[in-house]
Amino acid sequence: METKNIDHALNYYQDHYDDLQKELCDFISIPSISTSESHKQAIQNAAAFLVDKLAKIGIENTKAYPTERHPIVYGEKLVDSNKPTILIYGHYDVQPPDPIDLWKFPPFEPKVIGDYLYARGASDMKGRVWATFSALQSIIATTELPVNVKFLIEGEEEIGSPNLAAFLNEHKSLLACDIVINPDADMLAPDKPTIIYALRGLAYFELRIFGPSADLHSGIFGGVIDNPANVLSHVIAGMHDNQGRVTLPGFYDEVRVISDEESKQLSMIGMDDVFFTSITGVPALGGEKNYPPVERVGARPTLDVNGLYSGYIDKGAKTIIPAYAMAKISTRLVPDQDPEKIQSSLRAYLENKVPATVRWELDFLSGAHPYIAEENAPGMDSFVEALSATWGKQPLWKREGGSIPVATSMKTYLGVDSILTGFGLPDDQIHSPNERLHLPTHQKGVEALIRFFLGFSTAKEI
Ligand code: BES
Ligand code: MN
Repeated sequence: METKNIDHALNYYQDHYDDLQKELCDFISIPSISTSESHKQAIQNAAAFLVDKLAKIGIENTKAYPTERHPIVYGEKLVDSNKPTILIYGHYDVQPPDPIDLWKFPPFEPKVIGDYLYARGASDMKGRVWATFSALQSIIATTELPVNVKFLIEGEEEIGSPNLAAFLNEHKSLLACDIVINPDADMLAPDKPTIIYALRGLAYFELRIFGPSADLHSGIFGGVIDNPANVLSHVIAGMHDNQGRVTLPGFYDEVRVISDEESKQLSMIGMDDVFFTSITGVPALGGEKNYPPVERVGARPTLDVNGLYSGYIDKGAKTIIPAYAMAKISTRLVPDQDPEKIQSSLRAYLENKVPATVRWELDFLSGAHPYIAEENAPGMDSFVEALSATWGKQPLWKREGGSIPVATSMKTYLGVDSILTGFGLPDDQIHSPNERLHLPTHQKGVEALIRFFLGFSTAKEI
């Protein structure tokens, strides 16, 4: 009976695949760039598109809730209050496509080449949102949904979800659920189904250094006026020692050391030097000494400069001492580090390091807490089973180096855990030019989700 339902839904998905892909392309064509002031209308359009689509699938009470910035899309299908409730999380916003010149195709005109669909948001995460829609549409159209489902799809994930926590706090009963399924992550490879049990957090800063009141002639003043670009470079260079460790005072104080057993288990999932060099094209890896790559990206915190600006950057030469220099600097954090404490740590470093010859300002742009999942979250067994049945092998368990701030917020405000997974791949080029979705993996993802939703209540009743 169970298997029959799965087959019906899977057949429906196959039969409707082309239509679903067409609609996905319509969704992707909306340039819902959350950070951009000039794309506000696109954001509204994307939210409206989702409300409409959810209603068409048979999801009820669909609505776009306004927030201070971008709307949150909600919808539900409640079949029986005695059955478990799964909250499906997604985000419909995307990163800016820049640098545009490096795209092979226009970023908001999705194009299929071979096994890939190219466009901004194709993988992160409009394709993943679409996988959940495709699964539920296939189930609702062919059989009875054995669980209650709720959707929460936000439009501010790529800017750090500034209005989500307040929304969760204000709508606790609307959002009440047993478990969140959050597919905003990656699997290790097309043949390696993956469950993510930890995420890094984030603390993101902008540092500005001010020198003279205007750019100065570097011949007349070079030697007496400290140069903000030199100072900034010096300050940044001092943020790591020669072991690749971050030097901010107390930076590692709260880092939870992983067990030997976990370290051993992580060493077996294949995230080695070659895994990273082959995806990125670098000749060799960098980072902290004495930790393997899989731990350096998952279980260790990092600090990176994300952008730099100072002085004359056009063609040719201009002999100046710039008045100003700026750096965007972010840290990725692991349990039990706290973004606010990292801010204090960076301030302490700057107070000590920046010379009195310049003035500095530091802004905290966004923060996210690291996350580590409970073992035995409700539904985890069903999810493992769904992945195993789809790929014919057991999933791998990994720590993710990226951040999904909502996982911690769901725990804090709704008291629920998240099953973190994803049908994206490490070489999807998310946040980069030529982002793409690997369609065979996407289709398998839909299949796994169908199995998960249909298998869920059975697993609970046993
Ligand atoms: N989907 C990503 C997070 C991600 C990336 C998970 C790779 C797994 C693998 C998400 O949309 C994202 O990019 N998040 C931001 C969060 C930040 C803006 C607060 C990130 O990690 O930079
Ligand atoms: Mn994402």
